[in-house]
Amino acid sequence: MEKMVIKGGSPLIGCVDVSGAKNAALPLMVAAMLTTDEMTYHRVPALRDIKTTKQLLLQLGVQLDDFTAGALRIKAREITDHTAPYELVKTMRASVLVLGPLMAREGRADVSLPGGCAIGARPIDQHLKGLEAMGASIELCNGYIQARANRLRGASLSFDMKTVTGTENLMMAATLAKGTTVLENCAREPEVSELAHVLNRMGAKIDGAGTDIITIDGVERLNGIVHEIMPDRIEAGTHLMAAAITGGDVTVKGCKAEHIESLLEKLSEAGLKIEIEENSVRVRSNGGIKSRNAETNPYPGFATDFQAQYMALMALGDSTCLISEQVFENRFMHVQELVRMGANIRISGRTASVRGVRRLSGAHVQATDLRASASLILAALAADGITEVHRVYHLDRGYERIEEKLSSLGADIRRAKDEML
Ligand code: EPZ
Repeated sequence: MEKMVIKGGSPLIGCVDVSGAKNAALPLMVAAMLTTDEMTYHRVPALRDIKTTKQLLLQLGVQLDDFTAGALRIKAREITDHTAPYELVKTMRASVLVLGPLMAREGRADVSLPGGCAIGARPIDQHLKGLEAMGASIELCNGYIQARANRLRGASLSFDMKTVTGTENLMMAATLAKGTTVLENCAREPEVSELAHVLNRMGAKIDGAGTDIITIDGVERLNGIVHEIMPDRIEAGTHLMAAAITGGDVTVKGCKAEHIESLLEKLSEAGLKIEIEENSVRVRSNGGIKSRNAETNPYPGFATDFQAQYMALMALGDSTCLISEQVFENRFMHVQELVRMGANIRISGRTASVRGVRRLSGAHVQATDLRASASLILAALAADGITEVHRVYHLDRGYERIEEKLSSLGADIRRAKDEML
């Protein structure tokens, strides 16, 4: 196991590039199964979740070629297996995204139920409800979803709640179904729109992505294309909050401000100076941090994937604020670790009350999930003394070369072998 060792106190200054978006790359990689042609992606981030998705695709018989850094050729000439096994799904619940493509192309899929994770139960009932509406039979056997269909047919359905991968799974399933599918109460995240854009370039007929209602007219086949993956808005926002918490001045290059509008509004309310260019965003500290309430909501609301990092920032706020997590039921695992660093945070149901303190102090802390680990890194960058963040494999799921990027901005951070674990 590895840990991150951080000596806090250096303001981050400079420019950093943002990598390709993990939450766009994952659905795009499995979407390659919707054609027998070769798909080529550029700006594929080097992350654990990408590695896991490659393992899953290889398991299904898909051919992969990492022909150069950040690029990936995928050719699903034939699917030789239809199972997403427990050992892969339990490490990455986004593996359930193979359901849509496998059902669209093969009419069969055996996918391990993901089970809960650190941030909540995260069921996939909406994914299954949609596939059943499209004519699939769904059985649960030995912890596996066994889905079968002769050929999916178009259907109309409304999601009970906004689900990102649920919207993505059913959109992919509908591309090759017979007839028209209308999905209502869809997720509007930029990664959903990116997937629809790529599917349409492959020959799909999708309308309305990015709005609540998406219409998909099924077609007979899709073709291979070349695509550069969109920038990772969550990584971009994380680096901007690192600038804010350390009193620094950082420009994140290659990110789209419109994808993080609600975060930038919040940072501006908190007293940060924001400068927006065509393909970059700059955040400069302007003295202290003003405590400002936040509530997470589906896009375009304040992203749940920013909540933990924002809480670290508010731990050093000038008064008290309330941070409410409306998307997941248990996404406060970082709170106790921040408290160990001197933060003053109390939880009541889905709301955390954060009373700003003057200083945080370095400590041994433990990462529990991807964005919680990012929150601890940010707190450590601002804390007095040395912090050791254990179980950084959580961090490696979604942040490419984070210690290199933060070091280039002046952070005192290094990865080390973790003798403690
Ligand atoms: C996606 O997860 C992201 N992952 C998550 O990012 C992100 O936090 C989440 O969307 C919300 O924005 C990927 O895109 C790979 P949901 P997803 O389905 O699709 C409930 C990260 O840090 N729900 O939108 O799994 C669910 O329990 C990760 O990069 C059902 O009840 O999330 C949750 O409370 C973490 N039944 C809410 O909806 C369902 O069938 C939103 O979940 C589906 C979802």
